[in-house]
Amino acid sequence: MHVVHTVAECRHIRALLRGSVGFVPTMGYLHEGHMILVRHARAENDHVAVSIFVNPAQFGPNEDFAAYPRDLNRDLAMLEREGVGFVFNPSPDVVYPKGFETYIVPGAVAEPLEGERRPGHFRGVDTVVAKLFNAVQPARAYFGEKDAQQVRVIKRMVKDLDMPLDVVVVPTVREADGLAMSSRNVYLNQRERAAAVCLINGMRLAQQRWQQGERDADTLRNIVEQTIRAEPLAILDYVSIADSESLKELHGHIEGAALISMAVRIGKTRLIDNMTLE
Ligand code: PAF
Repeated sequence: MHVVHTVAECRHIRALLRGSVGFVPTMGYLHEGHMILVRHARAENDHVAVSIFVNPAQFGPNEDFAAYPRDLNRDLAMLEREGVGFVFNPSPDVVYPKGFETYIVPGAVAEPLEGERRPGHFRGVDTVVAKLFNAVQPARAYFGEKDAQQVRVIKRMVKDLDMPLDVVVVPTVREADGLAMSSRNVYLNQRERAAAVCLINGMRLAQQRWQQGERDADTLRNIVEQTIRAEPLAILDYVSIADSESLKELHGHIEGAALISMAVRIGKTRLIDNMTLE
């Protein structure tokens, strides 16, 4: 497995590879969800590349950039076991060298939900993802549906900027009790971990009502909100029932598919999750 740290090294390795590259961009501290992305990439491409980079540009000033879990050796061992061919692990000054001043400005799909609560987040995501795509030149890039808004923002960028690759979205990987896998789950203590199940429980209740024919967006939003509020350790940031493509908030009768998404604080950990109703 080649582990490279500069764009020049990355381009050099890429140029030696014949055939398609499937790319999995990550911020490291890998878990089974990332491994599933790697396996999809391996099944559909001649080579697999993974990036490990905790991107400072997508964290706000009071967010967890410094505390974000990191364990490069463990990550590399996991990727080696999966047969990954090359790993791009740049430092912040490789991605944002002195004098760097060009960012990608995402459009309307980046505005609500996470975009509203985390100003500048998707500008940082789009910018780093574009830079990583330029360095790795993949045929396909793999992202988890867990970051539902992120995949919509990235798909929009790829389309709008005519980037020559396919964005492949892979369903969220969950723990046995339904908690979505996330590197940030490591922040949760035992009580908080047990409480975190309220996110999926709320969405499953709404899904049940949806399957029974409930189509009122406000009723469905309330069902999720009440489940979260019933958990004493949970502090609700938002619950959204939105159009599953545009992410515009829905009220009243829902025509077509909808996306339930939410952010909830449990202790110091901010968790996000989503489910499509269709
Ligand atoms: O989803 C993530 O881990 C990050 O947002 C990404 C896509 C690797 C960009 O830093």
